Amino acid sequence: MGNKLQVGILGATGMVGQRFISLLENHPWFEVKVVAASPRSAGKTYEEAVGGRWKMDTPMPEAVKNLIVRNVNEVEAVSKDVDFVFSAVDMSKDEIRAIEEAYAKTETPVVSNNSAHRWTPDVPMVVPELNPEHLEVIADQKKRLGTTRGFIVVKPNCSIQSYTPALHALRKFEPTQVVATTYQAISGAGKTFKDWPEMIDNVIPYIGGEEEKSEQEPLRIWGHVENGQIVKATAPQITCQCLRVPVSNGHTAAVFVNFKKKPTKEEILQCWADFKGLPQELELPSAPKQFIKYFEEDNRPQAALDRNYEKGMGVCIGRLREDTLFDYKFVGLSHNTLRGAAGGAVLIAELLTAQKYITAKN
Ligand SMILES: NC(=O)c1ccc[n+]([C@@H]2O[C@H](COP(=O)([O-])OP(=O)(O)OC[C@H]3O[C@@H](n4cnc5c(N)ncnc54)[C@H](OP(=O)(O)O)[C@@H]3O)[C@@H](O)[C@H]2O)c1
Repeated sequence: MGNKLQVGILGATGMVGQRFISLLENHPWFEVKVVAASPRSAGKTYEEAVGGRWKMDTPMPEAVKNLIVRNVNEVEAVSKDVDFVFSAVDMSKDEIRAIEEAYAKTETPVVSNNSAHRWTPDVPMVVPELNPEHLEVIADQKKRLGTTRGFIVVKPNCSIQSYTPALHALRKFEPTQVVATTYQAISGAGKTFKDWPEMIDNVIPYIGGEEEKSEQEPLRIWGHVENGQIVKATAPQITCQCLRVPVSNGHTAAVFVNFKKKPTKEEILQCWADFKGLPQELELPSAPKQFIKYFEEDNRPQAALDRNYEKGMGVCIGRLREDTLFDYKFVGLSHNTLRGAAGGAVLIAELLTAQKYITAKN
């Protein structure tokens, strides 16, 4: 690619926004041109606005320190300087729906981390390895919005990446019932132990709205396109419990599954080892080479050891065994702010760029 595409980050000062900033430092295709946040931060330099809130392990990139933070609500002003935006603002669902549509209507594609549009029928919710074909509804969405290049694409909730890719690779055996318990890191709530000390030595058995998302969103990923809309799949039945655990990064899932056509253990392991998606075929810059890794060791995957597998973009699986009530059980792990948030969104933007949905405005 010649000139890099100019990118805006909405919610750039937040935890997911900071991840975008870190991931896009030295990105081969994208360059951060605009950082935007609430009116509280607008007018300050990025460094001043973030202040002591920088939560990444790597230092703040020099290139963004002196960018003046814009007000997210000044849609026209932000849009005119960028080719597309990533959205990670924390506002009410109605406000997010409205502002993301406003950006799309200025002919600025929006790749969103927010849940607001996940069930809008003509907005694709995509894990690039699993359902890239859902991008075809963008044509219908553009008709509704009256745009030629502006549209919205969303990524799913961070929890589902810890079990959905593993199940996706086994779809030919027709999973019928899934029970998943997720053990979710505190960064999923935008927190560190410093600002959430109550989480030390603790487990909280409730994450608002998370169980519904964890049960329903895989069905939308496995849905199909019909008359310009995504129609969700009806199987498998999924039930989830979502727990907050004292882990900084990395969501773990303990999964039980029944199949219509029960595979052998060897068949399951082969499907995971062989699984590839479009990002691997297209060799997108953020695509993991091996998306699903299976660990033979009984005590893996572990959040602390394995969350950064393939730079946090791969999914780690272990402990596959037959069960007494279900056909099989296994454990999955995925990095919630990399694959599960900013990294997943960057991979979507790379796919959209490779497929010419996102192009330079001028
Ligand atoms: N953390 C995760 O792992 C994760 C994963 C998937 C999705 N998400 C979603 O991504 C979004 C951001 O999450 P986060 O953890 O990064 O949140 P966060 O750390 O609280 O950051 C929120 C961002 O939104 C901005 N903001 C807050 N109120 C605003 C307003 N009224 N108008 C305009 N901007 C406003 C903040 O700007 P100021 O700094 O100026 O206040 C900040 O840039 C949330 O909707 C969250 O549900 C998070």
